Amino acid sequence: MKILAIETSCDETAAAIVSKNPQEDYVKILSNVVASSLIYHSQTGGIIPDIAAREQLKFIIPVIEKTIEDSKLRIEDLDAIAVTYGPGLIGSLLIGVETAKTLAYLWNKPIMPINHLLGHIYANFVNEKSKIEFPAIALLVSGGHTDLVFLKNHKRVKWIGGTLDDAAGEAFDKIGRLLGLPYPGGPAIEQASEHGIAGRFTFPRPMIGSHDFNFSFSGLKAAVFREVTSIRHPERSEGSHALKRSVDSLPKAQNDIDKQQIADIASSVQNSIVQVLVRKTVKAAKKYNAKSILLGGGVAANQKLKEEMHSQLSTLNFQLHVPPAHLCTDNAVMIGAYAAFNYKPQNLNTITANPELYFQ
Ligand code: KG4
Ligand code: ZN
Repeated sequence: MKILAIETSCDETAAAIVSKNPQEDYVKILSNVVASSLIYHSQTGGIIPDIAAREQLKFIIPVIEKTIEDSKLRIEDLDAIAVTYGPGLIGSLLIGVETAKTLAYLWNKPIMPINHLLGHIYANFVNEKSKIEFPAIALLVSGGHTDLVFLKNHKRVKWIGGTLDDAAGEAFDKIGRLLGLPYPGGPAIEQASEHGIAGRFTFPRPMIGSHDFNFSFSGLKAAVFREVTSIRHPERSEGSHALKRSVDSLPKAQNDIDKQQIADIASSVQNSIVQVLVRKTVKAAKKYNAKSILLGGGVAANQKLKEEMHSQLSTLNFQLHVPPAHLCTDNAVMIGAYAAFNYKPQNLNTITANPELYFQ
């Protein structure tokens, strides 16, 4: 089966063609194209939905054309179309969904609406490698989501916990902004951490010991805000009115924190986030007797997270799977992979973008 997949939930316009043999438990990538409007958003320090949608419109046809051209397939060779229908930004989602519906109608192909979050998990089922054994626990860590999901098999998927406030990627992005680092904050904090000494600052590891599988990262962001404020304005004591201002309304950090302090804070923040993610994931894997742990989403590209996960699992009997970095961040291969394992075409007229979609 050969599937053309389209992903436009945020600031990436992505298309891919994947193929799957019924006997195999992975998909092959026949082509994979991603265009991003990140350059605009890095100038503004965050995603501007109108700009993201405008760029989606500009890129969508050239990206699909290039995907088909790269695959060397003809339209007749395609068996189905899969498209992300949520969650995401409504303007961005609509462009992918309406394009996919139009193509499905014109080419007379079956179409499948795919949940972006499940897509991130299925970035693990790509290309031949060690077989993924069920049951599995998936940690989905992206800019908008931090979720733990139990997969008994391909058909039985259950959400077991998630963030109560900011997602892990969102925490990286907001803290990056506080430190005056470029957007997105995750890779920037990872890079800054290389020269940092984590022990110089101690930040909370929120909910690390809680008895559920939930997360909370907004307190960490507030703690970094307090630290940055006290470095910039040592005269202001804890609890002054300045500390109560919303972190989000802060202007970009001035150049009044030196490079080493930024590196040290970045390193400590990264440690806190990684430790919480690893502790909760391993706890879930033990409780659900998982055989495999699957990581997915942009934050799964973080080297420290992978290293810490490996080191915690060295004495435990779980198999860790992490997609290559370019399949952790948004792409259409993962959307095609989910569709190939869960082939369920739907009537064209029933498919609509759903920005608030979550795990069903
Ligand atoms: O999955 P993704 O591309 O988009 C969403 O669906 O949200 O994830 C983007 C998020 C951003 O918050 C970004 O800062 C984070 O993933 N990210 C990272 C790294 N690369 C991307 N966070 C930590 N370390 C990284 N290397
Ligand atoms: Zn994503």
